[in-house]
Amino acid sequence: MAHVVVTGASSGIGEALVREWVAAGARVTMVARRQALLDALKAELGDAVRVVVADLGDPAQATSWIDGAVAELGPIDVLVNNAGVQIVAATTDVDVAAMRSLMEVDLLTPLALIGAVLPSMLARNAGAIVNVSSLAGLAPTPGMTHYSAAKAGIAAASECLRGELRRTGVHVVTVYPGPVDTPMARAAYAIVPPTFAVRMLPEGTPAQLAKRVRAAVERRRARVIYPRAYAVARHTPAVTRMMMDAFTPVPASAAAREGKGS
Ligand SMILES: NC(=O)c1ccc[n+]([C@@H]2O[C@H](COP(=O)([O-])OP(=O)(O)OC[C@H]3O[C@@H](n4cnc5c(N)ncnc54)[C@H](OP(=O)(O)O)[C@@H]3O)[C@@H](O)[C@H]2O)c1
Repeated sequence: MAHVVVTGASSGIGEALVREWVAAGARVTMVARRQALLDALKAELGDAVRVVVADLGDPAQATSWIDGAVAELGPIDVLVNNAGVQIVAATTDVDVAAMRSLMEVDLLTPLALIGAVLPSMLARNAGAIVNVSSLAGLAPTPGMTHYSAAKAGIAAASECLRGELRRTGVHVVTVYPGPVDTPMARAAYAIVPPTFAVRMLPEGTPAQLAKRVRAAVERRRARVIYPRAYAVARHTPAVTRMMMDAFTPVPASAAAREGKGS
């Protein structure tokens, strides 16, 4: 029975990934901060899942839970770096602490987790690492300066690692979700002005994305871009760049809002 680790398992895409892998017969270590949500999932899914409460924005907690997870459920077969935070704001409004915390959760902890699990996978010549980037990693998004930087960073690392490991039994999948209906996406829509272009964006579901991610691991596919309409972003980066600059609504800065009010 495969041991799958899903970070950010308490909500949205991570929760859907847990359900998808449990339905397929895996045992899943679920990692996040909100224990009540993880406990509720455990109450529903039973012995197939194990709860780990950890703040992946704290370097001291990023990897410290791995030994316990391996002791209980065996060597990790699939690591899914899914936990993420997003900041949608004018760049001048983002404080340094929030920016650093985003970089820990979205970029540095995933790299630390890869470093922690990879030796054992290579020793077994088997395993998979899934890194959840974003369309913002392919198409940097105005109003999301730090998120785009982190997601481009994890995407680059993930694609590099896939090449490095291509002659081994360890497979790497990079996931580029466009808008998917989760609390994170709903929070972003509450901030950006609902322009016509925003309302027209195709949106996917966490359950459908989770199916595609598991299939990509099973079939050793390099990447998942979902919804499929966004795959064009990978093949036409210059045109995508122009479209993003032209049509992405940008949140007004606090200074601009104050200026308007005076
Ligand atoms: N939804 C979209 O449209 C979309 C698009 C592109 C990419 N993505 C990416 O998909 C992934 C999942 O996002 P989602 O949409 O499912 O968002 P979500 O519903 O907000 O879930 C985010 C998950 O990350 C966990 N997390 C956040 N900070 C954490 C921390 N410091 N320590 C441990 N866990 C932490 C949260 O758990 P706790 O709060 O309980 O800790 C939660 O389980 C993210 O990497 C996101 O960037 C989403």
